[in-house]
Amino acid sequence: MIEWLKDAQFYEIYPQSFRDSNGDGIGDIPGIIEKLDYIKDLGMNALWINPWYDSPFKDAGYDVRDYKKVAERYGTNEDAKRLFEEAHKRGIHVLLDLVPGHTSEEHAWFQESGKEERNEYSDRYIWTDFWISGIAGHPYIGGECPRNGTYMLNFFKCQPALNYGFRHPDQPWQKGMEDPACLATREAMKDVIRFWLHMGCDGFRVDMADSLVKDDDPDKNGTCAVWKDIFGDIRKEFPEAAFVSEWSNPELALKEAGFDMDFYLDHVGNGYNTLVRDYEAGGEDRSYFKSEGKGDITRFLKDYVPKYQATKEKGYIAFISGNHDTPRVKRNLSEDELKLFYALLYTLPGVPFLYYGDEIGMNYLDLPTKEGGYTRTGSRTPMQWEEGEQKGFSSAAPGDFYLPMDPSEDAPTVEKQKADPASLYATIKALSGLRHDLRELQADGDFAVIQGKENEPFVYRRGSYLCAINPSMEEKRVPLKMVEEAFAKEGLHFDYPVSPAPLCGIGKAVITQGTLLLGARSFALL
Ligand code: GLC
Ligand code: CA
Repeated sequence: MIEWLKDAQFYEIYPQSFRDSNGDGIGDIPGIIEKLDYIKDLGMNALWINPWYDSPFKDAGYDVRDYKKVAERYGTNEDAKRLFEEAHKRGIHVLLDLVPGHTSEEHAWFQESGKEERNEYSDRYIWTDFWISGIAGHPYIGGECPRNGTYMLNFFKCQPALNYGFRHPDQPWQKGMEDPACLATREAMKDVIRFWLHMGCDGFRVDMADSLVKDDDPDKNGTCAVWKDIFGDIRKEFPEAAFVSEWSNPELALKEAGFDMDFYLDHVGNGYNTLVRDYEAGGEDRSYFKSEGKGDITRFLKDYVPKYQATKEKGYIAFISGNHDTPRVKRNLSEDELKLFYALLYTLPGVPFLYYGDEIGMNYLDLPTKEGGYTRTGSRTPMQWEEGEQKGFSSAAPGDFYLPMDPSEDAPTVEKQKADPASLYATIKALSGLRHDLRELQADGDFAVIQGKENEPFVYRRGSYLCAINPSMEEKRVPLKMVEEAFAKEGLHFDYPVSPAPLCGIGKAVITQGTLLLGARSFALL
């Protein structure tokens, strides 16, 4: 496992909306460079930057037109190089976003592929052999190109699927995954990976990583084999490069495909979703971190613990505060509730990812769609740095911003939150610092549930530390005898402090007469 990931804490940057350095209303790479000191000071030592490649931006850059060129609106390849250098000077690693499953319909490969005459790119995408044939179970497009065929899509209409082959080809136009044309697609993607790693990036977040081989077996052995092959080559040359998959199936992504990290995504009803966005299922919001105390930690543990146990030797589950596809976590949780969510996020094993602006509790806004964002658009608004109309995002007139600024009177800003020792920002910074300081809290540190019951505090062990969370408004008690016994089973002595001060506390947490007393909305680390 890659050494630097053990203490990695990621910060996701949506480049459009982070910091505009040249006053055109849209964020850019020099803007990110300006803010590296801020990121470092917050405690984050790694970045994931959403696609910054040349694109017609019909899916905010996930429709890549040229994998090797920075989009003009963000700057130049020289700026990219300077960002890697400036980040490294500060001990910050940088992951880019790799989109291997599809390109933009404007990519030169696709333009060639759609021509009538056969050429090098004819089979780079998945084409049928007749202008009106459908592709069972897959979206497809006809009528756009001179070629006599229809082509498969991977996501939006503008995103034709790259050809990594079919697991069990059964039509004359379907290629097997070892067909030379499909191997050429793989090699082309390795070439893109090498290009950026050579320039200085430290790895990739991989978009729709499970989508490569079509009509794959249920265990995705075809797609996993493609990744093994890609990593087999790349890791020889770049052993420190890290890859995190958008897959949300760590048993496959970490154990079979060979990723270093796999995102625990916000899928309705899964363990992560029950912590903070339970309302997405449509019923009453029973998110675990809502103070009403209707949440139930067992819904999370039932999903998470078996996955963690099955994969902990192979790689890391990556927890997110949110991302550019989810509603912001502030949508249904108050700052006080969020402090406890972050206490969990920064004390679980695996690797934490913080979405830009979540450290100050930026709001989810109800906005019309922009660049294929739809309901995701409201999580992509400009970062709020300072007080004032432009909030330090840009010198452009706010009406010219990429997306509107949060108009609320009390819109949080870095400036305000930094000045307040009780802010969400201050809590996240403290938790981040604690995780850097305590080796056992980091990605590979030991984790065990001591108490995971409905209506009781969630109590767990990280190495020789005890963590306890009570998100409800009721005072709760944790018998220390129970903790001592759990530690003893592992051959550990639970040596809790005589003084009532925990190493880290949120809310009221004190030790009295053999119990850890957890006040309303509290967290303790002993
Ligand atoms: C991933 C990205 C999302 C994008 C889609 C298609 O889910 O996170 O933003 O629209 O893939 O590339
Ligand atoms: Ca700009």
